[in-house]
Amino acid sequence: MDKKMKGIILAGGKGTRLSPLTKVTSKQLLPVYDKPMIFYPLETMLRAGIKDVLIIIAPDNAGQFLHLLGSGREFGEGIKFSYEIQEHPGGLPEAFIIGANFIGDDNVTLILGDNIFADDLAKDIASFESGGRIFCKKVPDPERSGVAVFDADNKVTQIVEKPKEWISDYAIVGAYVYDNRVIEIARGLQPSARNELEIVDLHKAYLAKGELDVRFLEGEWFDAGTFNSLLEVNNFMAARVKK
Ligand code: DAU
Repeated sequence: MDKKMKGIILAGGKGTRLSPLTKVTSKQLLPVYDKPMIFYPLETMLRAGIKDVLIIIAPDNAGQFLHLLGSGREFGEGIKFSYEIQEHPGGLPEAFIIGANFIGDDNVTLILGDNIFADDLAKDIASFESGGRIFCKKVPDPERSGVAVFDADNKVTQIVEKPKEWISDYAIVGAYVYDNRVIEIARGLQPSARNELEIVDLHKAYLAKGELDVRFLEGEWFDAGTFNSLLEVNNFMAARVKK
């Protein structure tokens, strides 16, 4: 039988780069034109037909997320939101450890709560069968992201988190599709020098198995984690709505 696809939105962290905007609320609840930021990654998830979504949040503002999003029923028929607290921001792969029970035996799509996509990822999520699938976008500032290097056949040859020296223009954006083995792989990771589990180490584990596949984004992508990118995505969404 085909495995189901579960969804996780990771919306914890401290949002320190956006302080003082994030002093009394979470980054993912800040406005992006006419909606709270988290609505965008959530809509990307729901558009892909995922109905069971776990939202992982930091303890401080947990009540605000519950108040805003509720059970999921308001978002559509059969949609169900669950919540888990991440006590400390120990890295993105913790989503799969905290979410292990929620994922059960299924596959899982993780979308970061501050990542906003103009592209529709529905087909690429629905067509997923096994292994790992990441999404890449050509950007002018790859040093802000995880980065992938490709050979002439578009096969990934190297993956580095926020490389200090230029290695490629392709950022690995914050949407990831993995099969159920991701839970065990995440549990086996060691923290990096910045004392976090690193999402790029999950990609590398699937790459080493020869089971990492890449999709390229055509449309705009925003990681709304800085004042400039937050302003940029607000302007982009305002222009899109007005059109
Ligand atoms: O935006 C895409 C990038 O996201 C990727 O290219 C990088 O490979 C990946 O490491 C990540 O980089 P960031 O520097 O943007 O990660 P940040 O620490 O800002 O975390 C991303 C989101 O996840 C943010 O909304 C906060 C949340 N978060 C983060 C951590 C580390 C958590 O909820 N828990 C955590 O432990």
